[in-house]
Amino acid sequence: MTNIKKSIHGEWSSRTAFILAATGSAVGLGNIWKFPYITGENGGGAFVLVYLLCVALIGIPIFIAESMMGRRGRENPVNTMLNLSTEANTTPQWQYVGWLGIIAGLLILSYYSVIAGWASAYVVKAFVGDFINTDAAQVQQLFDQFIKSPLQLIFWHSVMMLTTLIIVARGVGEGLEKSVRFLMPSLFALLILLLMYAMTTKGYFQGLHFLFNVDFSKLTGKGVLIAMGQAFFSLGLGMGCVMVYGAYLPKDISIAKTSIIIAAVDTVVALLAGIIIFPIVFSNNLNPSAGPGLIFETLPLAFGNMTGGWLFGVLFFIILVFAALSSAIALIEPAIAWLIENRNLSRKLASLYACTASWGLGLITIFSFNVWSDIKLFGQNLFELLDFLTSNIMLPLGGLAIAVFSGWLMNAQHSQQELNLVSDNHFKIWHFLIKYIAPIAVFLVFLQVMGII
Ligand code: TRP
Repeated sequence: MTNIKKSIHGEWSSRTAFILAATGSAVGLGNIWKFPYITGENGGGAFVLVYLLCVALIGIPIFIAESMMGRRGRENPVNTMLNLSTEANTTPQWQYVGWLGIIAGLLILSYYSVIAGWASAYVVKAFVGDFINTDAAQVQQLFDQFIKSPLQLIFWHSVMMLTTLIIVARGVGEGLEKSVRFLMPSLFALLILLLMYAMTTKGYFQGLHFLFNVDFSKLTGKGVLIAMGQAFFSLGLGMGCVMVYGAYLPKDISIAKTSIIIAAVDTVVALLAGIIIFPIVFSNNLNPSAGPGLIFETLPLAFGNMTGGWLFGVLFFIILVFAALSSAIALIEPAIAWLIENRNLSRKLASLYACTASWGLGLITIFSFNVWSDIKLFGQNLFELLDFLTSNIMLPLGGLAIAVFSGWLMNAQHSQQELNLVSDNHFKIWHFLIKYIAPIAVFLVFLQVMGII
């Protein structure tokens, strides 16, 4: 690309800085809140296996493609796609992939912030001792009462969106790098601690069995789509997040290696969360398919009944909030980058507009848990519909477009040069995966869910 503009964002100071930020984006509520509850709803082992296959065969190649395209295009997803399509001599319509991403980001953040709000409310609940010596019924009641209150949910959603706004308005800088550097190890330490607790519960092996015993009779066609959607969601793929973060990448960093590291960390955290939650579920005769409340109805039991549980509970939910925030700022970045670059807004104003829009949309999710809980379409409430539309339709579609573009339209020499892989064979493997395997797999999953195959 000859007319590379210097990106508006500056560059990551080092490879570690990019790894930290991208890991911050990847690891979040998707791993700890969403993975366990959708695994519970979709029968366990077989779902987990499909998820892992999707991460390896679709997620990693697309992660590499998306960051590579970001680094080559160097702007917000819309302009990046425009730049790249000009370079590849193809239609400027590809910019709509960027649009799809910006909109998906705003929609996802709208409910992401609501759930992050639940986690922050739980910091307070842990702090005031609400979990001490509780039993399953009390914990469930605590949660049910909480989500029935629109005002409380709006309050915490607003706190989270405002915090996101303050961080993004300042720009992705050192603050983010520093917080993730401290965050990831602490999150990991607390998860290991919880794992040790889970191992002492009587449901430990039942939990492991649920997660890892592959029984395809428990998996529906829709479950396959949800597993694939989760691979995209958890890695933060398919909507231009990785693309904008890639735009900050210095030229000398190995994209492939970093992508694999990030995907590995992300997957380990999700599996750990599962290995912690399900033993607690089975030890307390809870229902694995309890839905979005699952971690809020299980983890307090662990904290309420283990030594030091008060402190660990407070710390855990604080860290979960931080992990959510480092993903939230990634979700909104494509929209902000577009407003700055194409509408000439200041970073502060751009952040204000984008966060306000997403905040307003968040009310849909909030009301779907209380005043609008009866509104259903195809048996799903508004939150479920929004999640389905974004995670399972928009993200895979965006990913499909990225795979097709980078595999079929981009000049292979350009991608090879950008990826700068040490061995030719490594490039060939990626190219094969991105050209054939990833797009065909996404396509087949769509077809089978529509009942065509
Ligand atoms: N991956 C994050 C999580 O698991 C959420 C997230 C960040 C995301 N960026 C994204 C989800 C882009 C979808 C698309 O919590």
